[in-house]
Amino acid sequence: MPEILPVSKIIRNRRTVKPAVMDPQLEVPRDLIEELFENANWAPTHGFTEPWRFKVFTGDARQQLASQLQQLYCEHTPEGQFRQDKLDKLGRNPLLAPVVIAICMRRGDNPKIPVIEEVESVACAVQNMHLTAAAAGLGAFWSSPQVLDTGGMRSFLGLREEDCCLGLFYLGWLKEGERWPESSRHPVAEKVEWIKCSGSGALPDIP
Ligand SMILES: Cc1cc2nc3c(=O)[nH]c(=O)nc-3n(C[C@H](O)[C@H](O)[C@H](O)COP(=O)(O)O)c2cc1C
Repeated sequence: MPEILPVSKIIRNRRTVKPAVMDPQLEVPRDLIEELFENANWAPTHGFTEPWRFKVFTGDARQQLASQLQQLYCEHTPEGQFRQDKLDKLGRNPLLAPVVIAICMRRGDNPKIPVIEEVESVACAVQNMHLTAAAAGLGAFWSSPQVLDTGGMRSFLGLREEDCCLGLFYLGWLKEGERWPESSRHPVAEKVEWIKCSGSGALPDIP
């Protein structure tokens, strides 16, 4: 392969950008958000269930979301595990990003499709959004606080019992002076095994 594929560049340049470094005043054009959703919609889906659903919070709606997250945290956190910094962050993060998207999975009615495959399909859709954002230089962060998996959150988002909210996807441009983050991975060769016929039929143990 003489040159790195354009898609590889985007994949490797995609980063998690936290709301703390986003500028809440810099608007994300509606067209660009729609482009993210269009690409999400092209994710692979077993049985064409297309289980991804998105609820978009901008402007004052972000305060509503923040208050709901805080209320649920207070209701569901056992006394000994309560952390003020976590409560503060749940209330602060939605206001630091101009756009917050609740990532939801709507369970299809084909019982032959396991729930995990619906979840996997939504994750593929989110990666499409993540990559599209990265290609546009737009920061994005998939956050998954525990309070999302509660009846209160489902009802806030208008989801049914069999549906779920898999995360909050924060979107925003970097504040002036902030830099695109860096990340690292262990070599992929450590995670890949090329299977050869061993003769005995038994596979070697995974280290
Ligand atoms: C399903 C999922 C849930 C995540 N939830 C959180 C989270 O709750 N808090 C957090 O700090 N990062 C969360 N992340 C983002 C990871 O921290 C991030 O991908 C990781 O640090 C690697 O950074 P990179 O995306 O820039 O390579 C989540 C990522 C995924 C895929």
